[in-house]
Amino acid sequence: MSKTQDQLKQEVANAARDYVAEHLPAGAILGVGTGSTANFFIDAVAAIKDRLGGAVASSEATKKRLEGHGIQVLDLNDVVARGLSMPIYVDGADEIDASMAMIKGGGGALTREKIVAAVADTFVCVCDASKRVERMGKFPLPVEVIPMAQAQVAKALAKFGGTPTLRAGFVTDNGNVILDIHGLSIVDPVALETEINQITGVVTNGLFARRGADILLLATADGVQTFRR
Ligand code: A5P
Repeated sequence: MSKTQDQLKQEVANAARDYVAEHLPAGAILGVGTGSTANFFIDAVAAIKDRLGGAVASSEATKKRLEGHGIQVLDLNDVVARGLSMPIYVDGADEIDASMAMIKGGGGALTREKIVAAVADTFVCVCDASKRVERMGKFPLPVEVIPMAQAQVAKALAKFGGTPTLRAGFVTDNGNVILDIHGLSIVDPVALETEINQITGVVTNGLFARRGADILLLATADGVQTFRR
């Protein structure tokens, strides 16, 4: 019998918990992503919460879930100001390619995810096999935008070949809107990430190519496979 997507997410979440148990120095800070796979991970990592010196959350939803397990959530500015390190960040992805570049932001948390990932030493991506792609773009690329710039940014984004669509009724944790670009075929993820971020009014986009994943734990029908950048 084939595994359900939730079973795959559970398996990869358990593998990430084991990775953290083995590699996170006792008392160190863990960065935690957002989404359904990240939720499985949060529930799994709760079993080893006494090892953690606290966690940094990439969204309000993740913060709430961590606190629900009695895991202390730290303010990122505080962590950086105190010179503390964050050896590991664990998060899901909407797509990931062979170079470990990702599309993220299906849940709308892309900006905080990118910020927390930028501080972490090692990005551990947790996915089921459906997220692994040859070329990214089938999943609409999310772009977080300052609300008053929405129309102007949508116009500017159209030149990249896809169709930007406002995510209806959605406001990010930062009070902004999301434009999802449909129909892209992403040949050069680093260049596209950089160019989109140059548009005035864009907060950030969901390409994580300049800082991709370092480790991919990929749940497949035959078990969890590990890839390294
Ligand atoms: C949240 O904004 C996203 O970046 C998620 O990390 C990504 O969409 C993966 O989510 P799932 O694990 O729910 O597929």
